[in-house]
Amino acid sequence: MRAVLLGCPGAGKGTQSKILCERFGAAHIASGDLFRSEIEKQSPLGLKVQDYVQKGMLVPDGVVIELIASKLDASDAGWLLDGFPRTHDQAMALDKWLEQNGKGIDAVVYISMKEDEVVRRLTSRRTCGSCGAVYNLLTKPPREEGKCDACGAALVQRSDDTEATVRKRLMVFNDLTAPLISYYKHAHDFFEVDGGRDMAVVTEDLSKILGAAMAKGA
Ligand code: AP5
Repeated sequence: MRAVLLGCPGAGKGTQSKILCERFGAAHIASGDLFRSEIEKQSPLGLKVQDYVQKGMLVPDGVVIELIASKLDASDAGWLLDGFPRTHDQAMALDKWLEQNGKGIDAVVYISMKEDEVVRRLTSRRTCGSCGAVYNLLTKPPREEGKCDACGAALVQRSDDTEATVRKRLMVFNDLTAPLISYYKHAHDFFEVDGGRDMAVVTEDLSKILGAAMAKGA
């Protein structure tokens, strides 16, 4: 599988990507997760990007493109991109990589979501500081308050999930990433799924779309 999940902050890209990659045996390439891991390690890349991520601004294209290209090169079994591309230049860089490697994209899927619901979802998101499992105090609470069901470690709130930063991220999405929807509608096999529904229903819709797209491309 080679596919792209587009969607505003909180649309459910990360939640759905993890399930779909397991189901389809693809690599989950999530630019935000990669940056957070580098920030946690305080690596040179982490130090370079931490201000952008914490303020809800986009990391400069050159930095993102170099990082993602290295992950694409290393993922022979296929991939699902979550959070990349996010700008016109990133979309062009992905097209160039595909052309140079003689590959295509099976599907680009846009997970749509109402903005007022996003703020509620993201301010109530909690993540396991150890294994990265994602919870939601309103829609997917852990069995024991503040503890990860999977590994028992403490749950934390992402520093960019405050209401002010979520609103900033939504503005950035509308300005720089939303225009990619019309680009992909014309340039690749494009699908739209309503991300405001029950998680399992969204997963089944996405699975059907990706399964059919892969069968068509095979
Ligand atoms: P990134 O980590 O990509 O953040 P994002 O796009 O803002 O997306 P989120 O992770 O917030 O949301 P999601 O759609 O994955 O939602 P989730 O599944 O967790 O990027 C962070 C930062 O890194 C950026 O701001 C930027 O600085 C930098 N960056 C990353 N990529 C970049 C790039 N390409 N270029 C430049 N900079 C880049 O779900 C959210 C919550 O809702 C969870 O609690 C979940 O449990 C719950 N939930 C999910 N689905 C449902 C449902 N159907 N019903 C009810 N609850 C649900």
